[in-house]
Amino acid sequence: MPVNEEKEWKPKIIAFCCNWCSYSGADLAGTNRLSYPAEVKIIRVPCSCRINPMFVLRAFQRGADGVILCGCHPGDCHYMTGNYHTRRRMTLLFSMLDYLGIEKERTRVEWVSAAEGQRFVDVMDSFVEEITKLGRSRRLGDLRCRN
Ligand code: FES
Repeated sequence: MPVNEEKEWKPKIIAFCCNWCSYSGADLAGTNRLSYPAEVKIIRVPCSCRINPMFVLRAFQRGADGVILCGCHPGDCHYMTGNYHTRRRMTLLFSMLDYLGIEKERTRVEWVSAAEGQRFVDVMDSFVEEITKLGRSRRLGDLRCRN
């Protein structure tokens, strides 16, 4: 790859944000004119537990360099226990991804409330910085069944 192209490389980050807290936190950051890196592409979901592990796998398959999941703080989930399920499910998924060669640092679960616009910015800044240090992610092969 040419040197210039490597210098201009910016990571592709997918951020799944729950509607009730994290997405509102991102919204608050915008309202307060706080800026977070443009590399972060937000996908709004009703609750963090809506994030099927396949969404994360598919993101890496389609070229994401990092995937972050944001939800309400434990105990604050709009659906009572959704984020507890997310935490358990993603712990398993992230260790499986590590086994597949996607470093653990490329995935993260964070809790951001609707009142934490600055925290949202800080989390995204640190995640983008970490992914930039790691460099490009290896692309997963097609995960769909083929007959
Ligand atoms: Fe935010 Fe469930 S509604 S994590």
